[in-house]
Amino acid sequence: MSDLDPFKVFLELQLALPRNGPGSRRATEAALTLLPPLPDDAQILDIGCGQGASAFDLLRLTKARITAVDLYDVFLEKMNARASREGIGDDRLVIKQADMEALPFHEGDFDLIWSEGAIYLVGFARGLKLWRRFLKPDGHAAVTECTWLTDNPPEEARAFWDAAYPQMGTIASNVAAAERAGYEVIGTQVLPPQDWWTDYYTPMREKIAEMRESWGDEIEPVLAEADAEIALFENNPGQYSYVFYVMRRKG
Ligand SMILES: C[S@@+](CC[C@H](N)C(=O)[O-])C[C@H]1O[C@@H](n2cnc3c(N)ncnc32)[C@H](O)[C@@H]1O
Repeated sequence: MSDLDPFKVFLELQLALPRNGPGSRRATEAALTLLPPLPDDAQILDIGCGQGASAFDLLRLTKARITAVDLYDVFLEKMNARASREGIGDDRLVIKQADMEALPFHEGDFDLIWSEGAIYLVGFARGLKLWRRFLKPDGHAAVTECTWLTDNPPEEARAFWDAAYPQMGTIASNVAAAERAGYEVIGTQVLPPQDWWTDYYTPMREKIAEMRESWGDEIEPVLAEADAEIALFENNPGQYSYVFYVMRRKG
């Protein structure tokens, strides 16, 4: 078992959860209401869709056709199975394997780019710059990004995020970065703590306990890392959260 792949353990943990990052249908809907009404034939691109938590919500909240992309097949297989179960056809939902750094789309293909909990993988400013061209000239983007809610976080939180995601910004620095990347920021919304717990950290804790029972010690480093992230959030209320940035493409 010494050749155990930590990424496979991480995937098993993630696949058991209702969402693959903090968020909620309420937050998705609230971000949507900041946007001007979408045309009935709108095209939405959901980047880093995971198992499709936001894509399936957007299907119900809009009449748009949604293209959902993720790098990993295992998530897309689960999404395909759910789409079949729910009778959703490709007139509403296209599920595609693609790398967010090299998306196979054209200039101006989409009215709206959606991305929850995924832009950090390329960096907030870089992702916004990379994806801008896929929007129509007056298109919009709504993305969530883990963000400092304070200029002076406690040392424990600062040290964790300096190691995990050193470029994590504040709302003000991210708004400025979005403006520099060619967007006007229409609004921001801080995700409340329950959006971290209900569909993400609470079921993750349960799954960690189950995996500790059923696997051996060799997966402990992966589980301990996940446990540490949850404990950090629990011990540092109000210091950081995911924030929705809702934007319009300028020019
Ligand atoms: C934190 S999860 C968020 C998933 C989903 N949006 C949600 O909120 O449940 C980040 C997602 O990005 C995907 N991902 C990682 N690297 C990627 C890449 N280079 N291109 C596309 N997707 C990627 C992961 O597979 C994962 O599903």
